[in-house]
Order: sequence, then C-alpha cells, then structure tokens
Amino acid sequence: MNTEKITKLALFPLTAEVNKHGHLSIGGCDVVDLAAEFGTPLYLFDELTLRQKCREFKAEFSRHYPNTLVIYASKAFLNKALTLIIKQEGLGLDVVSGGELSIAHSIDFPSSRIYFHGNNKTPEELKLALDLNIGRVVVDNLYELELLNELARERGISQDISLRLTPGVDPHTHKYTTTGTLDSKFGFPTTTGQAEEAINRAMSASNLNLLGLHFHLGSPIFETEPYELATEVILNLAAELKEKSGFQLREFNIGGGFAVQYTLDSKAPAIADYARIIGGKVKSLIAQIGLGTPQLIIEPGRAIVGQAGIALYKVGAIKEIPGIRKYICVDGGMSDNIRPALYGAKYEALVANKALHAEQDKVTIAGKLCESGDILATDANLASVSPGDIIAIPVCGAYCIPMGSNYNALPRPAIIMVSNGEARLVRQRESYQDLMKLDIT
Ligand code: LLP
Repeated sequence: MNTEKITKLALFPLTAEVNKHGHLSIGGCDVVDLAAEFGTPLYLFDELTLRQKCREFKAEFSRHYPNTLVIYASKAFLNKALTLIIKQEGLGLDVVSGGELSIAHSIDFPSSRIYFHGNNKTPEELKLALDLNIGRVVVDNLYELELLNELARERGISQDISLRLTPGVDPHTHKYTTTGTLDSKFGFPTTTGQAEEAINRAMSASNLNLLGLHFHLGSPIFETEPYELATEVILNLAAELKEKSGFQLREFNIGGGFAVQYTLDSKAPAIADYARIIGGKVKSLIAQIGLGTPQLIIEPGRAIVGQAGIALYKVGAIKEIPGIRKYICVDGGMSDNIRPALYGAKYEALVANKALHAEQDKVTIAGKLCESGDILATDANLASVSPGDIIAIPVCGAYCIPMGSNYNALPRPAIIMVSNGEARLVRQRESYQDLMKLDIT
C-alpha cells in the first residue's frame, strides 16, 4: 500500500480499513458487498464515528467550559435513525423547519432540547413549535418576535427564546454560506443598533422569556479567530446591556461551522482545538467582564456527520479525450451531492474494490445528470478504473443527502448504517413509483 492511500483512508470513517480481499471495509462490512446487496448510489453511515464525534464534542468543550450544551444542527443530515443516535448521545437538536421538527418529534426527541432556528419561520411552524413545547425559539427578526409573542399570549404561555445576532465578522468561507456579516438575511446586526433594540423589545415582551444570544458565522470555518472575534463583539454587547437595561445573559450560543477535512490538502482544526480556543476565550472573557457563568451552546452539524458518511457509486461509461481528460461516469451525481456544482467543493475518491492497487490514473468523476457541471471530483488519483468498479467518496455525511433532489427524475439513494460487521437499511431507495406518488393527472 502506498502512503497516499493510507492518508486517504484517514478521510473515511474511523472504522475504515482494507480487508483481505483488498476491498474498503467500514464498520466491519465490505463496502463492495454492500454495494451489491443494497445497490448504488448508496450512502453509508458508520455508527461508531457518529457516536464518537458526539462524545468528542461534549468531552472537549466541557473540558474547557464545563457548562456546555452540544446541539446537533440537523440540517447537515436528518433521518429517524440518526436522530435516535443523537438523542441517545444526550445532545440537543437544532431544527430550521416544521419538517425537521416533525422528524425529531416522530422519535420522541426531548422537546426541551430542541432549538428552532430560521429567518422566516411561518406562523404554522411557530404554532407547531409552541404546541410541541420546544426548548427555545432562536428569534431572527422583529416580525418573528411579535408574532411569537402573540402566539404564546394566545396560548397563555411564556416561551423561552434567544436572539440571533450578526456580529459583523467574516469567517472566510464561501459567500453562499457566510451568515454573520452585516449584509446577511440572518439576525439582528450589532453595529446598527438593531441588536440592542431587539434585546430591549424581547425583554419587555409579555409572553417571551429572553435567555440568551446566538450567532452563527458561516460554514465551514477553517479558522478559530472569527469565533474569538465574534465572541468579543457579542459578550461586550451583553455586558453593555447588563449595565444599561439589566439584561442577564444566561445562554451564549456560538452556532456551528466547525470544519472537517475533505481532501488530503485541506486540513481542518481538530475538535479539541476549537474547544480549547473558543472555550478558553469565552471563559476568560466572561470572567473579565463579569457576566456570571452563562451556558455555552455549540451547534455542530458537519463535524458530527461529515466523516461518518460515504457515498458509493458504480462506474459505467468511461470516456477518454486523448491529451485532455478521462471521464469516468458514475450512477449518481449532483442529484445526491450538489456541493461540487454549488460551491466548487472538492472531494477525494477511492476505488473500493481496488483499494490496494497503485493509483496511477488521473480521472474526472462525472455524474449521470444532464449538466456539464455535474462533476463530483476533478483530476482524482485513482487505481485504473473499469466499468463495474465501485467508487467510494469520503466525507459525504453532511449536506449531500439533505440537499439532494430528484433532478432528471433520479430516485434518491438508499442509506445504510453499519456497525460491528452489520449493515441495516435506514432509508429505502426511492422507486419510480415514489417519484410519481404525489402527481395527479
Ligand atoms: N447553526 C446554524 C444557525 C446554522 O445555520 C448552521 C448551518 C449550523 C449551526 C451548522 O453548521 P455546520 O456545523 O454544519 O457547519 N450547505 C452548506 C452548509 C450550510 C450551512 C448552513 N447552516 C455546505 O454544504 O457546505
């Protein structure tokens, strides 16, 4: 085995190894066998990696800031089996729609640990949230503040809330996923006086109980400095408003955005690094400015599910343009992973049934959808590929399935969970009938 391949294996779930057949194995299961059994494209999640990441976030942040709550940002990937794991691991859940809320509710996720985000929650969604008695609504704008107060008043209850603020800090990520800068659709800007006004209005709302402040800068964030800068902005504002209007900061939520390593040359900080730097910063600053001991809340999504998930495709057509490029075409593409087309995201790949072969081919992995932009990886180093080979793409656990579509009427892939040598189906592959079931002629 050459050294590059060993490194590439490290991008896969923690249980990844090459078995005696020279095949990629995850969770003790031969993924080439799984591709034959469940069909392709196939998304596979490794249960051990999922649980390990949940535990790592809890342990590392608590080490530096004991009063920390980890809530999983379910937009990264949500289905019933995963939500059960998140519940068992004792995390909270960040939801952004009535749909995500309903999935969480369907497995009896403790409602007190559900945090409802979003810049345009509908009245129906807010009613559902109140009726399910969820823990927090993270209020994004004044329209929502008034609407929620009114809905809570009609029900004769007081709803716990926090406010989403935009601290004006650039996290240096893709502009589509930058959210904490002044010109953003999310939150109350701190620099315009709107954050202060929102805090005062929330404090005087009859049926809302303002517990804390939230920010989310963007995703993925490969640096720790933006978190430190934003922490300063928000905690200083909290201290100022404590003086001015008696505001008590009981919860401080720094959002998500923790990066993961997608490719061999895009190293991300370890969870322990984020925890040490951010936890340490919050701890020292609140002591310095006298803010008591608010609970620290973090909202990792990608960093919990990203590495745990892989995508498996079967190779079909191969097209070589002499002197230009070799395309190998797989049976999925931008309908199950739009990230390369949308953000220019980069991925590595491995021929799962040739995991020990020398990687002598430079190829472009193309999807099967009718768009030239449907490319999963450009200039990937792979073992010599033939039709029928199984391509495994690591770090596909976050934002692939949830952003998927039925473009070109491709059925959505099946999803399996592997653990201790066993694989179980956690979402069926869509059928052609499923594609038509809501149509009416
Ligand atoms: N909290 C809030 C309020 C968020 O908006 C997000 C992500 C998270 C937490 C979780 O961020 P994470 O830890 O997963 O980075 N589709 C893009 C990512 C969009 C993230 C949206 N918000 C992608 O594929 O890269």
